[in-house]
Amino acid sequence: MTVAPFTDFKNMETRTDVIAPAPIMRKRRLRQNSAFRSLVRENHLSAADFILPIFVEEEASERTPISSLPGIYRETEKTLANAVKEAADGGVKAVILFGVSHHKDACGTDSLHGDGLFARMINRARQASPETLVIADLCFCEYTDHGHCGPLTDKGDVNNDATLENLMIQARVAAEAGAGMVAPSGMMDGMVAAIREGLDDSGFTNIPIMSYATKFASCFYGPFRDAAGCGLGKGNRKTYQMDPANAREAIEEAMQDEAEGADILMVKPGMPYLDILARLRQETNLPLAVYQVSGEYAMIKAAAEKGMLNEQEAMMESLLAFKRAGADIILSYFALEAIKQIRDGYFENA
Ligand code: PBG
Repeated sequence: MTVAPFTDFKNMETRTDVIAPAPIMRKRRLRQNSAFRSLVRENHLSAADFILPIFVEEEASERTPISSLPGIYRETEKTLANAVKEAADGGVKAVILFGVSHHKDACGTDSLHGDGLFARMINRARQASPETLVIADLCFCEYTDHGHCGPLTDKGDVNNDATLENLMIQARVAAEAGAGMVAPSGMMDGMVAAIREGLDDSGFTNIPIMSYATKFASCFYGPFRDAAGCGLGKGNRKTYQMDPANAREAIEEAMQDEAEGADILMVKPGMPYLDILARLRQETNLPLAVYQVSGEYAMIKAAAEKGMLNEQEAMMESLLAFKRAGADIILSYFALEAIKQIRDGYFENA
């Protein structure tokens, strides 16, 4: 109990001879209605936060639904234009493209040509909606016949430095095709420095690099590998993607990419790695992106389909968690649905 001057309003006098009760902190005061809740809300989502991933399959006659990602399609090169326009109309400012190749080889050479699927889809998206930022995912797993993220050594492991040489070319091809940003996802050592050099040497000094800086060897990519048709022939990605057990190493990985010149750092997957995101927020002043990957999306969709979760609420809560943990940018298959929720007044009514 604290002794405090006490105003007795009934008798209009100030008394110091009584002990006023200690103020009870009632956290519920600011939760009592949506007006208070919106005044004190610390984090929000907005349309500008999102990047929408889009899959593009070559030589397909019509867009096909992806069974492991309900609501998401493999677009054809023709329907891609529509998909990008629809995204823009829905408020999406940026898209990231993934190719489903029918011309695979040991090195992923199709993605190194100005007329391969990789370049064509960037170009088409760019033409469809010039104001949309088209981001190129730089990797080879969608274009190699073995499914790994670069050419292999004799022992069957990904050849790091040979992959860097190819990434320099792939980055230039992306920029020439009209990509506004490149996003290397292969977890090769030195990839950011190599790509920066490749871009700068070909005059693309203004193209930023959003590095998949800390990408874990995760089972949550399962549905993506179906979607992009890039399952592994042999082995796994544990020799290049990170061990899910390691947090300190994740920070080291990200700081290395910052030192090499990355403009944006990404953490991937999202929900199981919020601790990494929050920690990284303390370590860097660069913008941070997070990828809510295919398995995270599929889990929410599947639980909702079974009536176990409210899909819209689970979606918004999971996305908001990324902002709370420190993300500036969210890559999510939910981008369009989330923007719709936001526009329909989600935060006003929350
Ligand atoms: C690799 C890449 C992957 C994803 C994005 N880029 C797959 C992988 O590393 O196996 C996964 C995205 C997702 O699961 O939604 N180029």
